[in-house]
Amino acid sequence: MADILVAYSTVDGHTLRICERLAELLRERGHAVRLWDIDDGGSIEVEPFDRIVIGASIRYGKHRQQVNDFIDSHLADLERKPSAFFSVNVVARKPEKSRPETNPYLQKFLKTITWQPQVLAVFAGKLDYPSYRFWDRLAIRLIMWMTKGPTDPTTVIEFTDWERVDEFGRQIAEL
Ligand SMILES: Cc1cc2nc3c(=O)[nH]c(=O)nc-3n(C[C@H](O)[C@H](O)[C@H](O)COP(=O)(O)O)c2cc1C
Repeated sequence: MADILVAYSTVDGHTLRICERLAELLRERGHAVRLWDIDDGGSIEVEPFDRIVIGASIRYGKHRQQVNDFIDSHLADLERKPSAFFSVNVVARKPEKSRPETNPYLQKFLKTITWQPQVLAVFAGKLDYPSYRFWDRLAIRLIMWMTKGPTDPTTVIEFTDWERVDEFGRQIAEL
């Protein structure tokens, strides 16, 4: 049994839902899991955990700065322990951009850090136009129009392939 830290950065909660699914799968396999919100400003001792997983969503082309800050402050532990990272974005709904090697956000992000997680994943996120503020909704609809995605402002759609989330969970279980 391993003690696993799953640290996440989310705005609308979808990355947390993915973390909860991972936690469920890992607990079923006998591991202890602690979920940790990177954005809430608190601090956590990472040293006691056996494995570390970090997940973050993309907003306007980037993960939040807090994700890089978290990685910087725990770099020594991240480098020493088995670790994994995943990114959540809607560009990943496109099959040709849905893999760690082909997702532009993940590839760009990896260039900003020296940490090299053993396991990487990219998951397609969720669109929920009715819940967005006016300008956000307009911006995302424009991006969707440019990338041939749904533009109907009443659309709520989850692109996440949960089987892939489970596969990532199984990889973490075996790290
Ligand atoms: C304001 C806003 C900006 C976004 N920008 C991007 C983007 O630049 N690229 C992308 O692929 N997805 C983008 N997304 C989609 C999010 O990554 C997706 O909704 C994800 O599921 C959000 O996860 P979260 O709820 O954990 O924050 C954006 C979503 C919103 C609401």
